[in-house]
Amino acid sequence: MRKAIYPGSFDPVTMGHMDIIKRAANIFDELIVAVLDNKVKTPLFSVEERVNILEDLTGEFSNVRVTSYSGLLVNACKEFEAPVIVRGLRAVTDFEYELQMSQTNRKLADSKIDTIFLNTDLRYAYLSSSTVKEVASFGGDISAFVPKPVADLTYAKFNSVG
Ligand code: PNS
Repeated sequence: MRKAIYPGSFDPVTMGHMDIIKRAANIFDELIVAVLDNKVKTPLFSVEERVNILEDLTGEFSNVRVTSYSGLLVNACKEFEAPVIVRGLRAVTDFEYELQMSQTNRKLADSKIDTIFLNTDLRYAYLSSSTVKEVASFGGDISAFVPKPVADLTYAKFNSVG
């Protein structure tokens, strides 16, 4: 049974994230998509909202489970019995941070956890959740960046903020 965890902030989930989820779900028997409950940052969407959105969007994949975690990722890996972490690499600029995270996690887990990187589809190589939020905050078109329900919910957030 090959099990992996795909962790992230997903605030909000983008087309790039969805592409990684689909591809990782084809590689692993079970994929746990795990939303970080980061007490330090103020997200646009609450953890519960992000988990619900991801559950709706991944409903068609029978081997994908969505959950959340707080604290160290390696502890979440242990809790969910997932020895492999999946991360997407958009460009070389992601590499240094991702390598550092992967080395740290491997050390913290006594070499029992590995990270594998999937290259982001070129169509989404420039995409980030932060860009999506910035464009939406100014009323720009985010329909090419996030699934339709996510676009609607993101605009609603900014409209409710005023
Ligand atoms: O989508 P993101 O924000 O790039 O994902 C980063 C994430 C959530 C995977 C990472 O920040 C994380 O897991 N943090 C939890 C704390 C942790 O384990 N830190 C040690 C690894 S350096």
